[in-house]
Amino acid sequence: MHIDIITVVPELLESPLSHSIMKRAQDRGLLTVQTHNLRQWALNKYGQVDDYQFGGGAGMVMMCEPLASAIEHLQKEKTYDEVIYLTPDGERFNQSIANQFSLMENLLVICGHYKGIDERIRQYFVTKEISIGDYVLSGGELAASVVVDAIGRLLPGVLNNETSALTDSFQDNLLAPPVYTRPAEFRGWKVPEILLSGNPNLIENWRFEQSLERTKTRRPDLLAD
Ligand code: ADE
Repeated sequence: MHIDIITVVPELLESPLSHSIMKRAQDRGLLTVQTHNLRQWALNKYGQVDDYQFGGGAGMVMMCEPLASAIEHLQKEKTYDEVIYLTPDGERFNQSIANQFSLMENLLVICGHYKGIDERIRQYFVTKEISIGDYVLSGGELAASVVVDAIGRLLPGVLNNETSALTDSFQDNLLAPPVYTRPAEFRGWKVPEILLSGNPNLIENWRFEQSLERTKTRRPDLLAD
């Protein structure tokens, strides 16, 4: 899978995408991520990509011209399955959307800044608007890192144990069950006996019940879905 990201602060994306699982995905050739500094397509030598909003009001708006030039430049090279704009008023990102994105070949991601991007770019270029939660970040870059990470770890061959993404929280709309590791007893606090039983059926049932219980108490909305 290939992901292009248009941003005014490419540095913000560097670290989250170059370590741990995201590094492995790229080292294995399963994921390529390329950032593109929007200022390459700036209006003038001052690197202008934003301007005051029509109608007045605080905050700058990212202009049409640089964004349209960047998007059209990239679209000449690739056909994108989705052009994603990260914005707090987008559709709330969740595991199901991550799963859908992970099946795609090429994604183009646009990170907004300031008051956001000119509405016409959203109308004429963007195909999906995504929010990572009901709070406002300074820009779309951290949100883009979240989305790319959630997608990247789902690509076949990225996680060593293929089943581990399948047992994550939210797959099947259930939260993950509690997990334990050695020692079996720490300060007198014991690991549930059943996990030491060696009986895979009993363990699987226990985990399912724990998942269900955890979901009922913490996220009943997931069960209503
Ligand atoms: N940009 C600013 N806030 C955001 C959010 N919550 N989700 C996605 N992009 C954003």
